[in-house]
Amino acid sequence: MKSVNVAIIGSGVVGSAYINQLKNLTSSIGFKVIYLARSSKEALFSKDYSPVDLSTYKSAASQPVLSLSDLNEFLKNSGKPTILVDNTSNETIANFYPNFIKSGISIATPNKKAFSSDISVWNEIFESSKTGGLVGHEATVGAGLPIIEPLNDLVLTGDKIDKIEGIFSGTLSYIFNEFSTTDGSNNTKFSDVVKVAKDLGYTEPDPRDDLNGLDVARKVTILARISGLNVESPTSFPVESLIPKALESVESADEFMEKLPNFDDEIQKIKDEAFAENKVLRFVGSVDLKTNKASVGIAKYGFDHPFASLKGSDNVVSIKSERYPNPLVIQGAGAGAEVTAHGVLADTIKIAQRIAI
Ligand SMILES: NC(=O)c1ccc[n+]([C@@H]2O[C@H](COP(=O)([O-])OP(=O)(O)OC[C@H]3O[C@@H](n4cnc5c(N)ncnc54)[C@H](OP(=O)(O)O)[C@@H]3O)[C@@H](O)[C@H]2O)c1
Repeated sequence: MKSVNVAIIGSGVVGSAYINQLKNLTSSIGFKVIYLARSSKEALFSKDYSPVDLSTYKSAASQPVLSLSDLNEFLKNSGKPTILVDNTSNETIANFYPNFIKSGISIATPNKKAFSSDISVWNEIFESSKTGGLVGHEATVGAGLPIIEPLNDLVLTGDKIDKIEGIFSGTLSYIFNEFSTTDGSNNTKFSDVVKVAKDLGYTEPDPRDDLNGLDVARKVTILARISGLNVESPTSFPVESLIPKALESVESADEFMEKLPNFDDEIQKIKDEAFAENKVLRFVGSVDLKTNKASVGIAKYGFDHPFASLKGSDNVVSIKSERYPNPLVIQGAGAGAEVTAHGVLADTIKIAQRIAI
């Protein structure tokens, strides 16, 4: 039986779902977990590379995590092709990917940081990957939704992308789907919807971390780069923030939530104007390859547009290209432990199919 070694960093929401899916996997390839950092402090591994038992990882005796350079050495000397699975959102780990890749270690991850920060990190990752480890990051844009692979396939086979447009944040999808509807129930206040989203646990603890648009900008950065538009960083193109200027610097999330109703009128006016044109508001990211521009912000869509009928916190992406003048549309849950973990596990398996010995 062919096999690979696997090192896992993180056992939070996505990490623990990933470990569970890997534990229950039936595959013709063996996946031997030789390192598991179950938190930023504790890790399970042994010097002789014996496998970590995934049934007992939560309670097994642990050691301090290895530094990234020690981890690189440990994995490099394991004697087998190795896949590092980074289930954190840690930027330091992300910036270390080029070192792992140069050591021949492959990466599978839902962590957007390395792919959406400075373009130099992106270039270094994919340049090193030509001769080093492989890279799978499907879950960095739509969690388990197949977006990156189909887009890559179009580009690699010579299609010309015209425009990518999408709703890439589950939180902002929910907020706008509730706030701006096609059925005329237009009395819902923006601040009330944000409050419900926060109470349901859909937002970050401070909703400004969703409303600032940066998470969407990171996803747009990734899609732009795959399509051939080399955006410098997620702050190098227009990103509309939904945080009222006056509330950007208020100290706490509680104070922000308390004062947000004072600013309802502004966004209500935009919604009413759109409704009068039979349109709804949605928070979208777009990449226009004809004008070489990327942007993130509120846009209006007719009641019959696919984005207008989106439900719950679903994501949707529409890819218009020379081969798909009627856009290719991919839609479904864009967040959640199980779907994100399956996106990362699918990448792990695809890499293993190429490198296992
Ligand atoms: N949740 C989703 O629906 C979703 C969807 C798409 C993509 N993602 C992405 O998936 C990744 C994980 O998200 P999550 O929701 O699972 O986050 P999470 O619940 O906060 O889990 C993160 C885990 O990483 C660990 N960690 C952080 N820094 C570390 C370090 N330096 N060394 C070792 N472990 C470290 C944390 O341990 P400590 O507790 O010790 O800090 C924790 O176990 C993120 O990049 C996120 O953007 C998540």
